[in-house]
Amino acid sequence: MKKILSAILAGAMLCTSALMFSACGGNASSTADSSKTEDAKVLHMATNAAFEPYEYVESNEVVGIDAEIAKAICDKLGYQLQIDDMEFDAIITAVTTGKADFGMAGMTITDERKQSVDFTDPYTNAVQVIIVNEEDSKVASKADLEGKAIGVQLGTTGDLYVSDVNDAKVERFSKGADAVLALTQGKVDAVVIDNQPAKAFVAQNPGIKILEEDFANEEYAICLAKGNELTAKFNTALKELKDDGTVDSIIKKYIKE
Ligand code: ARG
Repeated sequence: MKKILSAILAGAMLCTSALMFSACGGNASSTADSSKTEDAKVLHMATNAAFEPYEYVESNEVVGIDAEIAKAICDKLGYQLQIDDMEFDAIITAVTTGKADFGMAGMTITDERKQSVDFTDPYTNAVQVIIVNEEDSKVASKADLEGKAIGVQLGTTGDLYVSDVNDAKVERFSKGADAVLALTQGKVDAVVIDNQPAKAFVAQNPGIKILEEDFANEEYAICLAKGNELTAKFNTALKELKDDGTVDSIIKKYIKE
């Protein structure tokens, strides 16, 4: 009898602690949810850190123009910044599913992307350029891209543009550097990619060059989940950082011309 009683008692105690635990757990997780914007003060930035000078890894750290502008925005708004490196074509999904608070990756504002995310005001401009081998290239202009093998980074605007080129054989790589490698190995005839990373690739790989003729101008901006109130705060911070010269000086630190 005693045994049964103590078993019931122990059971009841277990129950109470289980209840307390779950109440606690429930509490903790609801704080964590609202913290995405207010309490925890950590904002997750989704990026693809293989895109010098905007984001790349140096001594195990993601550095570059985007990393520094993001840090300056977070500092201004009182958040800590956590940078999550992923494939470029995973960034928008990370943002729409709430895995990341924002995406910043030399990302061009496009109408198609605007259907799934909101963009801040642009923070800089870019152009898509064509990289070819210096010797014996079959491609000397945009028109020459017809029918050629063209390397791009998967899911980028470069990918989008060349998908419209007649009879082009588009080779999609998860990194721009792999597209450039394919070019130097003669596996593709050209690579279409953003101008600044293109310059970095040309500096690192002898024997390749950028053609004068380029594709349309683009604007880079930060993307956030649709309707996220942070977008307005980011825009205010970004405006202040543009007005006081911070954005310019960050860009000048990485792009010397
Ligand atoms: N600007 C291009 C786009 O938005 C390419 C961006 C690639 N960025 C990167 N971090 N890999 O599609």
